[in-house]
Amino acid sequence: MVDDRREILGAGAGWGPWVPRLAAAGLTLLIGLSLLTGISCLSLNQTQCSISSLLNGREDLDVPYAGTRPAVVSRMLEMAAVQPGDQVIDLGTGDGRILIAAARERGARGIGVDLDPALIDAARGAARQSGVADRVEFRVENLFETTLSQADVVTMFLLPEVNLRLRPRLLGELRPGARIVSHAFDMGEWRPDETARVGGAWVYRWTVPARAAGTWRFVGEDGREGVLRLDQHFQAVSGDLQTEGAAPVLVTGRLEGERIALEIGAGDGEPRLAGIVRDGRIVPVDPAMRWRAER
Ligand SMILES: C[S@@+](CC[C@H](N)C(=O)[O-])C[C@H]1O[C@@H](n2cnc3c(N)ncnc32)[C@H](O)[C@@H]1O
Repeated sequence: MVDDRREILGAGAGWGPWVPRLAAAGLTLLIGLSLLTGISCLSLNQTQCSISSLLNGREDLDVPYAGTRPAVVSRMLEMAAVQPGDQVIDLGTGDGRILIAAARERGARGIGVDLDPALIDAARGAARQSGVADRVEFRVENLFETTLSQADVVTMFLLPEVNLRLRPRLLGELRPGARIVSHAFDMGEWRPDETARVGGAWVYRWTVPARAAGTWRFVGEDGREGVLRLDQHFQAVSGDLQTEGAAPVLVTGRLEGERIALEIGAGDGEPRLAGIVRDGRIVPVDPAMRWRAER
């Protein structure tokens, strides 16, 4: 079974020192290694792309080229629930296969960025061939400079440290509810909302959580008022609820996008509230319920 992490880490770890070593070993060794590991070089064309990246001395690249297999691409798009009209941003797009599949198979539009101009040329050509060139744009651009705020979905196949560097921007710039799917690597303490294994590949999906931290004026189902204080660590929230004339009770909960599930109190039979965090309010998912919270 192919392990995509080992493949890209093998190519990416100690990236600088690989260049002279590979040059010394020559093209034969490089092609042999690539074919042996079997992912980066699924076609001669990609092999040439990989080699051109390596031999052009692209120390500016934060991640070497390796292509995501079609089955993994499909699973990524499925997990991100890409739908017609979604804006997809593909960071380190390579030959554009993820974004092109999103446009062709799911009616999305979007932007793919990569620092390698040869790969961007290949991506533009593939988009024309697939009949989606009017819905996708490929740019030679550093992914750390790409504006993320308009994305409904971000796709990536990068490296652990690159994911971690992107994490604050993904959390800070994307709207709550936007989805991120990553092939092979996770984002450390920000645990994925969904994980899948496709052949030898791991795929992770996060949904950007709404911001629920702070102090809320809470009105319970029985109309009693209280103060709800919440701390937030990625999707996890915890804090307490102080209701008039009662001792504070512990509150724990979890966010997935704008959806929040709160447990009020630690014991069995304590209320579990399912709400939506939006525009400075938390309102029940079930419109028949009357509890609410406001900033
Ligand atoms: C592992 S490949 C993934 C390619 C494609 N997304 C896929 O899954 O098939 C990573 C890509 O990131 C690109 N890359 C590396 N550092 C980059 C950077 N700082 N900005 C933009 N692209 C970068 C590389 O050129 C390479 O094409």
